[in-house]
Amino acid sequence: MADQFIEVDELRDTLLLPTHRQDVLTRIERVIQTIVFSVSEGEAPVLRLMNRCNWASVRFHESVGLVRKADVPVTTLRCDCPSSATRFVHLCTEMFSFLSVRDIYYNDPQLFGSQKTLDSILDDISCMLKVPRRSLHVFATSKGFISGDLCYLEEDGTKVDCNSSSTAVPVSSNVNGIRNIVSAAKFILIVEKDATFQRLLDDAFCTRLSPCIIITGKGVPDVNSRLMVRKLWDTLHIPVFALVDADPYGIEIMCIYKYGSRSLAFEAHSLTVPSVLWLGLLPSDIQRYRVPEETLIPFSQADESKINSLRTRDYISCQPAWEREIEAMQRLKQKAEIQSLSSIAPHFLTRVYLPNKLRYGGWI
Ligand SMILES: *[C@@H]1O[C@H](CO)[C@@H](O)[C@H](O)[C@H]1NC(C)=O
Repeated sequence: MADQFIEVDELRDTLLLPTHRQDVLTRIERVIQTIVFSVSEGEAPVLRLMNRCNWASVRFHESVGLVRKADVPVTTLRCDCPSSATRFVHLCTEMFSFLSVRDIYYNDPQLFGSQKTLDSILDDISCMLKVPRRSLHVFATSKGFISGDLCYLEEDGTKVDCNSSSTAVPVSSNVNGIRNIVSAAKFILIVEKDATFQRLLDDAFCTRLSPCIIITGKGVPDVNSRLMVRKLWDTLHIPVFALVDADPYGIEIMCIYKYGSRSLAFEAHSLTVPSVLWLGLLPSDIQRYRVPEETLIPFSQADESKINSLRTRDYISCQPAWEREIEAMQRLKQKAEIQSLSSIAPHFLTRVYLPNKLRYGGWI
């Protein structure tokens, strides 16, 4: 009976508040009630968490990406067990501070050690409460950069202009608050590495060929970079290409934009862009463009295991063209970075490679 009331309350609050804050609070309160109940019963409280970082807890959905299974394995955190006590305390502290302070949390660095620890804790909390991370109203500083034919307004009304050919703008830390997006871009190019991104800026790539938007998450993308790509795709309806190194790590990063990651699979609907196209560097481009042999890097043990892991994933086996490229790379046992193109000619990437690829449809 009591449970039914909670459902009704929750529904009403969710409908009343566009930010779902009340919904989040209700869920946190319920978790805390359980802890308090255990303590009052003389038992050691436990927290039950979804196993975020486990391939067994996600499944692949063709139009969405990686989504969390309904019945995922659960980890139990006990406060009386040395191996999980610290994490237990961190989680509780975070939940309590959400209830009382409700705003920015980066106020006790000593407690958490590093921002990475705190980030991981926040992901745990949002996963446990089954709410998107941004509903916790904790905005992390973005590590990504964006440039090109794009202007928009931040939530507070600040105008952001990414349309200057020589500089980049940090990706907003509140992507959901962005409005009035104006752009004449013909496509979006996701760039894996900062160095390549810089090269494109230096060569004025966004104005030279045709108007476009370039964005980099500097390696493994953070949530804001992924939200931004998704937002631009939703708003502009233009093709999204990925430019990554021809190595297993580059493919993994591209797959995070396209299909999502295991740890944030419960948010796939707002984070993935299933139509991302692999523009380059394709393993088959290595021969096609005669990338000099001396710039190729032999596979390491880590590359070998990463590529084996990639090949077992559902989202690769449903794309024969990708599978063929990955097989070719595994046969070659060599990888090539985007930078290796500059050993063909200094501006080869921006003057020859990308224009050709885009003009003749060299993506898969
Ligand atoms: C960006 O600059 C170009 C060239 O100056 C212009 O044609 C275009 O309209 C600008 N785009 C936006 C979104 O302001």
